Amino acid sequence: MRAVDIIIKKRDKQELTAQEIEFFVRGFTNGEIPDYQASAFAMAIMLNGMTPFETTDLTLAMAKSGQVLDLSKIVDIAVDKHSSGGVGDKTSISVMPMVAACGLPVGKMSGRGLGFSGGTLDKLESIPGYRVDLSTDEFKKQLKEKGIVLTGQSMDLAPADGKMYALRDVTGTVPSLPLIASSIMSKKIAAGAQAIVLDVKTGLGAFMQTLDEARELADLMVDIGRLAGRRTVALLSDMNQPLGAAVGNALETIEAIDMLHGGSPADFREHCLHVAAHVLVVGQRAKDLNEARSMAEKSIADGSALEKLRVLVAAQGGDVSYVDDVSKFERAKYVEVVHAPRNGFISQVHARSVGEASVALGAGRAKKGDPIDYAVGFLILKKVGDKAQEGEPLFEIHANDRAKLAEARAAVLSAHQIRDEFVPPLPLFYE
Ligand code: URA
Repeated sequence: MRAVDIIIKKRDKQELTAQEIEFFVRGFTNGEIPDYQASAFAMAIMLNGMTPFETTDLTLAMAKSGQVLDLSKIVDIAVDKHSSGGVGDKTSISVMPMVAACGLPVGKMSGRGLGFSGGTLDKLESIPGYRVDLSTDEFKKQLKEKGIVLTGQSMDLAPADGKMYALRDVTGTVPSLPLIASSIMSKKIAAGAQAIVLDVKTGLGAFMQTLDEARELADLMVDIGRLAGRRTVALLSDMNQPLGAAVGNALETIEAIDMLHGGSPADFREHCLHVAAHVLVVGQRAKDLNEARSMAEKSIADGSALEKLRVLVAAQGGDVSYVDDVSKFERAKYVEVVHAPRNGFISQVHARSVGEASVALGAGRAKKGDPIDYAVGFLILKKVGDKAQEGEPLFEIHANDRAKLAEARAAVLSAHQIRDEFVPPLPLFYE
């Protein structure tokens, strides 16, 4: 078999066999197939799609590119949660400690920023020292001893996704249903959690822009999860506007920590409670969503979720003092407040434009391996449905470069629309 023939077959819209997919994934993982062929392969999949069978084969091949953990030997049940990617989505950093504080072990493998969307690993690395490259043994030991792990792909766990993810980020091959489904589910299967909640985003700042596309992605991932013997549930949530206020790595981590201190914007808090409740139910820690929600609320009120975050950060080598004092996070040189240009109701805060502006400020990557700037980003101070008075603060820009600040101001101002008539708030969840 030759890699080029597999690329040509997909380019010509033919269905690949499981053997061809495995050959490609194995070769790419061990370095025999170079990045340029993997990029062409990803683009062919992006343009021509895959059948559900091909997507399942791709997922399993990627999961098996490293070890597949069997956590049932370590804890009775471990849970995992994953988002399909959005702007301002720092949910995992708050939800995973909440769930772990309720006694449900969490073993999660996250990703980095992808295209205009942020990634949990980049956010967590804004805490100095935090390690996202745990080995399999470290993963298992920490899960058993601390009940919480939040790491990235290593050479042991789903390495094919780690490599492919970095290429997709910089080759325009992110918004592809089979590539997203296989990327997410290969990590979930490899990390070994028996119960999984998928937060599938839909809207202007999601890779799946329509509810139908998001539902298709959700159904496919739930099917793959069940096929792999995992209890899998998907939620469809809004991503037309950024979630919460903060967009950018350190700013989002601060907001996620604030949430566990009892602060943070109401939409973000509500989103986290809803996701946490589903995780607690699918992980069989609560009998229904009402009970689960009360448990999640209690974990914030009694400080146990915050304590779990401290435990997590310490276990992975991070500086725990940042959890107690968020003023320690690196701050950008320039912070500018931009004011509402007129009276009215906010009718749009275009999530994708805000995400792209954040990447342009330095929060994301243009090329594989580019360094990122943790401090830059935005605080979105008014959301869809809010009333704005001319001259009121609309958003804040955090930048380290004056020219980029000016570009960001123009981009994020035009991401906002203000109307005279009343505008209802956007829902947080659709299904
Ligand atoms: N999250 C992932 O892990 N992979 C994707 O492709 C998108 C979101």
